[in-house]
Amino acid sequence: MTHLSSIFPFRGVGVNFKDRVKERDICVGVIGLGYVGLPLAVAFAEAGFHTLGFDLLKEKVAKINQGLSYIPDVAKNRLRPLVKKGLLEATSDFSRLREVDAISICVPTPLRKTKDPDISHIIQSVEAVAQYLRKGQLVVLESTTYPGTTEEVVLPILEGKGKKVGKDFFLAFSPERIDPGNAHYETRNIPKIIGGMTPLCTERAKTLYESIVVQVVSVSSTQVAEMVKLLENTFRAVNIGLVNEMAILCHKMRIDMWEVIEGARTKPFGFMAFYPGPGLGGHCIPVDPIYLSWKAKLINSEARFIDLAAQVNGQMPHHVRDLVVEGLNREKKALNGAKILILGVTYKKDVDDVRESPALDIWKLLSEGGGDVSYHDPYVPQLRIELKTFKCQPLTSKVLKQADAVVIISDHSVFNYAKIVKEARLVVDTRHATRNVKSGRDKIVKI
Ligand SMILES: NC(=O)c1ccc[n+]([C@@H]2O[C@H](COP(=O)([O-])OP(=O)(O)OC[C@H]3O[C@@H](n4cnc5c(N)ncnc54)[C@H](O)[C@@H]3O)[C@@H](O)[C@H]2O)c1
Repeated sequence: MTHLSSIFPFRGVGVNFKDRVKERDICVGVIGLGYVGLPLAVAFAEAGFHTLGFDLLKEKVAKINQGLSYIPDVAKNRLRPLVKKGLLEATSDFSRLREVDAISICVPTPLRKTKDPDISHIIQSVEAVAQYLRKGQLVVLESTTYPGTTEEVVLPILEGKGKKVGKDFFLAFSPERIDPGNAHYETRNIPKIIGGMTPLCTERAKTLYESIVVQVVSVSSTQVAEMVKLLENTFRAVNIGLVNEMAILCHKMRIDMWEVIEGARTKPFGFMAFYPGPGLGGHCIPVDPIYLSWKAKLINSEARFIDLAAQVNGQMPHHVRDLVVEGLNREKKALNGAKILILGVTYKKDVDDVRESPALDIWKLLSEGGGDVSYHDPYVPQLRIELKTFKCQPLTSKVLKQADAVVIISDHSVFNYAKIVKEARLVVDTRHATRNVKSGRDKIVKI
């Protein structure tokens, strides 16, 4: 493989950045090649930029260099031609950060066990950037984080060796908004927010991203850009919390919540449909608002909506367990000893990601009640629950018929819901996935 530095020698800062971007005469680096970083690196490479991806995981690096994708949203046939043309390369050698002109940081931002933000991955990658920082480099943080991170944490590390932002290097925050599994929106057609440390930082980042996305919206500071992302995800968490609470109320009042939402969404203004479900999942919606409530505590304030939504959403796995018990009860069966088949263990439909999936909590609650739990998920060949590894069951008629209850947690599009309802004895549907199934509706218990 051709080394990017040989095709792409250093350029001086005197050359106009806009022209260089236009001419594709810059090399872009992406740190963290996961659900966010790999699609971004591919978007840069497809736009004609020499792109160098950095990841600590050597297996990911090797796969990319073989042209193999491990992210469902990046089709396999997209990587190979880019790697072949020398437009995309991956490495674990961070000294090669010297070769790039712009760096997007897309590393994880999870929570610690104590529910505090864990920004150690950001710090580690920024320290690597600082070690090799050279004049004129643009650094853009994309990881979701609390307001103030770019200015209070990233900037001091980068300025540590006497370099000055806006003069020696450029720094901005641009939140990632990708929605894995969404067939309509991908990196290219999702507008991007940019907030730089100085007007020139914003301008440089805007110039770069405008070459790969339809619209770039500049905001006045890194803090505003950080907060935009937290508002978006808190809005989702709170509204999901609201419909989940309504769903529990409707269940008690024997009102069909799904029909209620269909009715309400006919209003052309002032209402936006959100749907109940088995609980929040994924790396973003359950985690990001907690970054904000943590920051609120630091300033002696409270984020009450966030805490309430987390509480209501956190109750949903218990509600699902209660629905299973209710369904079994109807059949004069107990949860203790019942065979439970979970369909779909990912945090949402059509993805392979089980991080923070409510299926994991529901599994534990059903097992604690004595249920004999197994699962089927076409995207997850095996699943680790506490210290045990479970293998995906085949979705055969025999497996469906043997289960005392089939519990739909992720409503994958590939499932044949009519067949599932026909062959199962009891279906607990947490996603309204069986809405179009005509016969056997008496077997369905829904949220
Ligand atoms: N997944 C999403 O849907 C989504 C959407 C919007 C925003 N985000 C945010 O984007 C960020 C990344 O999320 P993700 O889902 O892509 O995570 P991910 O776990 O899929 O990928 C992160 C990658 O970073 C690598 N990594 C960790 N530390 C590193 C380091 N110091 N140097 C180099 N590589 C390192 C990991 O090996 C991994 O490959 C998070 O802040 C997340 O909240 C995620």
